[in-house]
Amino acid sequence: MTAPQQDSSSGATLKDKRVLVTGSDGFIGSHLVERLVADGAQVSAFCLYNSNGSLGWLDESPSFQQALKDGQAEVVLGDIRDPEHVMASVEGMDVVLHLAALIAIPFSYVAPRSYVETNVIGTLNVLEAVRRHGTPRLVNTSTSEVYGTPKEVPITETHELRGQSPYSATKISADKMCESYALSFETPVTILRPFNTYGPRQSTRAVIPTVLSQMLVGAEEIRLGAVSPKRDFTFATDTADGFVRAALTDVPPGEVIQLGTGRTDSIGEIVEICKQVTGSSARIVTDEERIRPAGSEVEILLSEPRKAKELLGWEPTVSLEDGLAQVAEWLRPRVDADKAARYHR
Ligand SMILES: NC(=O)c1ccc[n+]([C@@H]2O[C@H](COP(=O)([O-])OP(=O)(O)OC[C@H]3O[C@@H](n4cnc5c(N)ncnc54)[C@H](O)[C@@H]3O)[C@@H](O)[C@H]2O)c1
Repeated sequence: MTAPQQDSSSGATLKDKRVLVTGSDGFIGSHLVERLVADGAQVSAFCLYNSNGSLGWLDESPSFQQALKDGQAEVVLGDIRDPEHVMASVEGMDVVLHLAALIAIPFSYVAPRSYVETNVIGTLNVLEAVRRHGTPRLVNTSTSEVYGTPKEVPITETHELRGQSPYSATKISADKMCESYALSFETPVTILRPFNTYGPRQSTRAVIPTVLSQMLVGAEEIRLGAVSPKRDFTFATDTADGFVRAALTDVPPGEVIQLGTGRTDSIGEIVEICKQVTGSSARIVTDEERIRPAGSEVEILLSEPRKAKELLGWEPTVSLEDGLAQVAEWLRPRVDADKAARYHR
């Protein structure tokens, strides 16, 4: 493993740095923007243009709204698939944190081309802009889904990649575009590879908000897909901390760094903790519509977190039990009884 030239634990911060965050309007992106605002960065929040002017989760963020008023943040509405607009948005930035993507695996079965256009072409647009403008640092967001069902666990960064879903294939392609720019042009890109992230604001496409929402509306039966798959869950603010550290740490171009806890729980085990958190006694009912094709379901994800600790000084701080309790508290006043059991791809 190559030693970093500048360690984020050295006290360096992103204060006054111009930081563009794509996917700012999303779940992880909004937590990251709030962290950057708190750190004093000058934030450009790239949000997907839409007809009703929504900034996604940033509409509900008091700290971001204050930063807008104070001139510490700006909104860039656009589409990551648009090369000229991405080129213009990256100009003058010190750091680009690229999170924009289509991320739902089930929807990638029905609309794979949109994933190629957003996740692969979108990343190419960001790479080209960073290369042309000489941006000092790009962090590209990978995912543990690039491994497919692993040959061995815990998974290290050198594990082979396997496109077990169209989503996974597009994220592998995006990672490989980054690798190619690192090797061909020395583009200073770090490939950050979060394992499953959870927290307030996550969509009910994901298993944790699905389980908790159904429990919080008092359902006696929890409708789920497979309960045997195991996942390594990181709380959103810990994931955001990983991005900040990656932005501050000068690793060789193309370095891949995982963000995971080194703990794995089956979906069935997650349901049991959620029962304790909510006081629910619901039982699981299999919803056939939610079962993934046999060859596509990833059975286990478990991170070896050593590299993130050694290179970035990163370690998760929120336990699964505390994190699930925080998500339940956030969901409690927001959960919609009519939507809780609805399958959202
Ligand atoms: N949630 C997880 O467990 C997890 C785990 C590993 C990696 N990731 C990665 O983290 C990143 C953020 O995921 P998330 O969980 O916050 O999902 P999310 O769906 O909440 O966020 C994705 C964001 O991308 C934006 N986006 C989509 N298409 C766009 C386009 N054409 N132009 C501009 N913006 C567009 C969306 O508006 C949204 O804000 C993604 O790159 C995802 O692959 C997520």
